[in-house]
Amino acid sequence: MAKDIYIGEVSRNEEVRTDFFLMKVTLPSGFVEPKPGQFVMIRIAGLNDPFLSRPLSIYSFARGRSNCTIELLYRTVGKGTRILAGLIKGSLVEISGPLGEGHFVTPNTANIILIAGGIGIAPLSLLAQNLCRKACRGKDAMTFYLGAQSADVLVGLNRVNKYCGNIIVCTDDGSAGMKALVTKAFQKDLKKYDPADTAIYACGPRPMIRVLSDMLGPEYFCQVSLEERMACGVGACVGCAVAVKDELGQKTYKRVCADGPVFELKDVIWE
Ligand SMILES: Cc1cc2nc3c(=O)[nH]c(=O)nc-3n(C[C@H](O)[C@H](O)[C@H](O)COP(=O)(O)OP(=O)(O)OC[C@H]3O[C@@H](n4cnc5c(N)ncnc54)[C@H](O)[C@@H]3O)c2cc1C
Ligand code: FES
Repeated sequence: MAKDIYIGEVSRNEEVRTDFFLMKVTLPSGFVEPKPGQFVMIRIAGLNDPFLSRPLSIYSFARGRSNCTIELLYRTVGKGTRILAGLIKGSLVEISGPLGEGHFVTPNTANIILIAGGIGIAPLSLLAQNLCRKACRGKDAMTFYLGAQSADVLVGLNRVNKYCGNIIVCTDDGSAGMKALVTKAFQKDLKKYDPADTAIYACGPRPMIRVLSDMLGPEYFCQVSLEERMACGVGACVGCAVAVKDELGQKTYKRVCADGPVFELKDVIWE
């Protein structure tokens, strides 16, 4: 399966919160502008281990005159992300992407709702940026529900502040914002949002997406970004398959890396 591979140079790789890193990578100008929700597979350039490539969502994108830059916001959870965290300015990385299908953006609805749990903020931040800069949606059109375990692992808030006027922060322990699960805060407001005039985008841990699926009927337009474990990242190994409904409502399997990671919430089958 064809994929575009680029060598990028790390220009920043900083721990912004304990175990959360923000990496900025300069890439050749040929890197295609990503859609929000798309991701890259990243590994150290020249490393001879294909299994050490890791999927990370594109957190921001900017095109300069002779190159482009992407930012990746990631949490260190295991070997691959810890290796990435050790990279210093000037390190070279191999990047394939942008990969997957991004969000289908319906910018004209009166309400645009973004719901992020933890590191799920990464793809939704790019979505907020695009809606603001390209679709010219004012800050008040978007409401961002942002959940984290506690204040010390709350990442990306400053960035979304630039694009969204209404941000509802929730933490499990109440150390920042409301003491509530982000889905609870959203549920409290749900009746304010007319399904015919609302677009919802969500990314976060599986249990969070599952709760949204129980809460939202098919009348709501809701797209979710699933973050399954991946191996090849380009649709070849089927290691990331999830059950979804096809156009006829029949169960089928789709690959998160190639057919997703973005899916319509009403199509996802929980098994
Ligand atoms: C499309 C996509 C986009 C992603 N975007 C981001 C992002 O922007 N920022 C970010 O921090 N992470 C993101 N992830 C998750 C990230 O890819 C994994 O955390 C990473 O691959 C783990 O690699 P590792 O070698 O450090 O950990 P491993 O040693 O492989 O695993 C360590 C632990 O993390 C768990 N784990 C591994 N992969 C995942 C996963 N996909 N979801 C939940 N738990 C996992 C394992 O079960 C294990 O408990 C994304 C995943 C996908 C599929
Ligand atoms: S990770 Fe190989 S098919 Fe998706």
